[in-house]
Amino acid sequence: MDKLLISGGVPLNGEVRISGAKNAALPLMCAALLTKDPLTLSNAPNLRDISTMLTLLGKMGVAISRAERSVISLDARRLDNPEAPYELVRTMRASILVLGPLVARMGYARVSLPGGCAIGQRPVDLHIKGLQAMGATISVEHGYITVRAERLRGAHLRPGLVTVTGTENLMMAACLAEGITTIENAAREPEVVDLAACLNAMGARIGGAGTGVMTIEGVTALHGATHQIMPDRIETGTFLAAAAATGGEVRLVNTDGALIESVIAKLTQAGAKISCRGTTINLSMSGRPKAVSFETAPFPEFPTDMQAQLMTLDCIADGTGVITETIFENRFMHALELRRLGADIHIAGNAATIRGVAKLSGATVMATDLRASASLVIAGLVADGDTLIDRIYHLDRGYDALESKLGALGARVRRVQ
Ligand code: UD1
Repeated sequence: MDKLLISGGVPLNGEVRISGAKNAALPLMCAALLTKDPLTLSNAPNLRDISTMLTLLGKMGVAISRAERSVISLDARRLDNPEAPYELVRTMRASILVLGPLVARMGYARVSLPGGCAIGQRPVDLHIKGLQAMGATISVEHGYITVRAERLRGAHLRPGLVTVTGTENLMMAACLAEGITTIENAAREPEVVDLAACLNAMGARIGGAGTGVMTIEGVTALHGATHQIMPDRIETGTFLAAAAATGGEVRLVNTDGALIESVIAKLTQAGAKISCRGTTINLSMSGRPKAVSFETAPFPEFPTDMQAQLMTLDCIADGTGVITETIFENRFMHALELRRLGADIHIAGNAATIRGVAKLSGATVMATDLRASASLVIAGLVADGDTLIDRIYHLDRGYDALESKLGALGARVRRVQ
């Protein structure tokens, strides 16, 4: 199994190009299921989750072509197997995103239940309730959800929690439903807005994306389109956090500071100097960071997917930071590993209190989920000596060419067997 070996202590310096967003690409790929025409997506990141989704769509009968690595064309004309098997859903929860499009276009879908996950229970009840309200018949048997509907009907939906993939699933289903669907308490994440823009380019009639109330007027068919995937705001934030923690100076290109204002605000409070212009973000940092406190919450508040990375910054900061995780229970597993590197972290319920220490010291640690892995990489970059991170397949799910991008910024990072 691959591991990452990091020799810490080098400030990151230079320019890095941010890839397309994983969490936008996955739902966009599923949108291809809604039409008989090809959908072409550019700026696709090179990630394991993207390959998993391609495998899943391929099994369903979607024809896939890649003119180049970052351009994916999907043609779902001959969709003959509307099923998502356990083996694939198990490795990638976002497979649930095929549910809405399949039932809307084919009147039938069978998708494995995602099951437990390292960062909490993460049920899909809100996806199911929404489809039921739109007239679908649902049964759960043998670990699979089976959904049937002649044609979905527009409905008034109000999920009890803000759910990102839930909003995306229901929005895609509503595009081909009869009548108007409203989604209250809709997720406002930029990835939802990107998906809505692509669906509208395919002939959908979606209003209110990016606000808490979306309206979708159903149409009988969608057509093909070409769409550029938005930049990855979490990759962006991760590189900014890494540069700030190491006291470096970096320039991020092909991204957008407006996507992560809450993260930029915290890094600025920690002492980083950040300026955004067009598709570029510059960061420079000198001296020890100041501790920051924050609470994760749905967009536009601080993203849970950046919680672990900022925790590492607090580990070496001057002062004490308190981080409260409100989205996922059990999302502090990185704290245990950070402690192995000498961090002083105390967890009580969903709050972590981090007392900054002057130095972390390299050790062997284990990656437990995608963003937890990123926090360990940042810790390795600042720690004294060598840090060996085990189970980095988590990183390969969501960070495009991480070690070569870090290497180009001067970090001493190597993949070892
Ligand atoms: C998406 C992101 C993930 C991010 C998360 C929160 C993708 C592919 N993944 O995950 O990176 O960490 O948003 O920003 O975009 N919930 C229920 N029932 C449901 C659905 C959700 O109780 O049917 C709960 C979840 O357990 C969680 C909260 O709602 O506590 C928010 O989860 P949700 O927004 O759905 O996360 P994902 O869409 O899975």
